[in-house]
Amino acid sequence: MNGLKNIEIYEKGNNYLMATYTRYPVVFTKARMQYLWDSGNRKYLDFIAGYGCLNVGHSNKSVVNALKKQIGKIMQPSNVFFNQPQVELARKLCEISGFGQKVFFANSGAESIEAAIKLARKYSVDKYGISRYEVITFNRSFHGRTLGALAATAQPVKQRMFEPLLEGFKYADLNNKDSVQEKICDKTCAIMLEPVQGEGGIYPADADFLKWLEGICRGRDILLILDEVQTGFGRTGKMFAFQNFDIIPDILVVAKSLGGGMPAGAMISTDRISKSFSPGIHGSTFGGNAASSSAGIAVIDYILKHDLPGRAKELGSYFMGKLERLKEKYPLVREVRGMGLMIAIELNKPLADEIVRSALKDGLVLNKVSDSTLRFLPPLVIKKSHIDILLRWLNNKIRELD
Ligand SMILES: Cc1ncc(COP(=O)(O)O)c(C=O)c1O
Repeated sequence: MNGLKNIEIYEKGNNYLMATYTRYPVVFTKARMQYLWDSGNRKYLDFIAGYGCLNVGHSNKSVVNALKKQIGKIMQPSNVFFNQPQVELARKLCEISGFGQKVFFANSGAESIEAAIKLARKYSVDKYGISRYEVITFNRSFHGRTLGALAATAQPVKQRMFEPLLEGFKYADLNNKDSVQEKICDKTCAIMLEPVQGEGGIYPADADFLKWLEGICRGRDILLILDEVQTGFGRTGKMFAFQNFDIIPDILVVAKSLGGGMPAGAMISTDRISKSFSPGIHGSTFGGNAASSSAGIAVIDYILKHDLPGRAKELGSYFMGKLERLKEKYPLVREVRGMGLMIAIELNKPLADEIVRSALKDGLVLNKVSDSTLRFLPPLVIKKSHIDILLRWLNNKIRELD
C-alpha cells in the first residue's frame, strides 16, 4: 500500500514533468533535520541534503519560524524598494565573508554565477576596454546550467548540443600552475573556481595553488571569483571554504544552503569592484525576496549559534578516517576525497548507481556524481551515530560487491 502510493505519484510525475533527471521511485512528503519520510511514511536518513541546500537540516525550526513570521507581513516588494530582511541578510553576508562590502541577490547558484561573470566583465571593460573579457575556469568544474554558467562549466558532456556557447572562456587544469599560466593573456578579466569541485567529484584545490592564484590575480588586476555555491555555509569546516586557506576572493558566489530550503543566491564583492554595477545594469525580479532573505538570516544565525563549521570539521575527519579504513579493506574503494562534510569515494567499478538504489531500499539517501563516484553531503546537524549507521551499511554492501 505504502509502496503503491510512492509509485502512483512517481508515474504521474513521469507523465507531467520533463525528464531532466533520472528519478528514483520514492516520493518524500515530510522532512525534519537529517530525516526524510516518503509518501508511505517510511523514514530515511539523508546524506545529500537536497544537493547541499540544507546544511542546517530540513525544515529547521528556526528557518520555518522566521519564514512564518515574514510571509504574513510582506514577501515580494519590488527591487526598487529595499526590504528589511534583504538589508539585514546582506549585512550578515558581508560580515561573515570577512571581505564583502556589497551584495547582489539572485534566486539560484547559476543566476549568481551569471551576475559574477557580468560584474567581472563590466569592471574590466570599464577599466581596460572591451577586449578584456575572458574568464579562466577549470576542467571538471560545475557552475550551473544557464548558458553563461554552462560556458564556464568545463565539462564537454554537459555543454555538447547547446553550442554555440557564450564566447570568452578558457579552461585550465585544477592545481596546475603551468596550465593557468598558458591561458592567461591580455584578455583575461577573471579566474573562477570552486575551492572544492563538487559536481565534478569532490576535488579540493591545493592551498599552495590557491595562494599562487590569488597572487597572479592581484598582480594583474584579474578578479578572483570563488564559486562557493556548494562549499559555503559551514560545509568544509569554515563558514566559507576560502577561509580554510590564507586567501581572499574579489567576488564570492553563494546559493544552495543560503536559503535553508528556500531559493536564494548571492554575489558578494567589495565597494571598489561593485561600483561597476549601476542602476539598470543588472537585476533580478525575485533576488533578495523578503521571504527567502528572512530564511537566510535564520540560516546564518543557526550556523553560528551551533558552530556547524566546527561540527563539519570534526565529523568530516571522523567520517573520512573511517572511509579510509574501508579503502584499506576493500579494493573496490579506490580513493577517498573530501574536506569537512563534503566527501566522495571513488570505486574501481561502475557500481555507484547500484549502491544508491540499494541504500534507498534500506532507508539511506545517497548520491552519485558519476558511475563510479559516490558523494556525501549530509546536513551538518547530523550526529556521529548517524554516520556510523551509514558506515556499517557501506561496509556490508562493499564487502558484498567487492
Ligand atoms: C559549485 C556550483 N555552482 C553553481 C551551481 C548551480 O547552482 P543552481 O543549481 O542553484 O543554479 C551548483 C549546483 O550544483 C554548484 O554546485
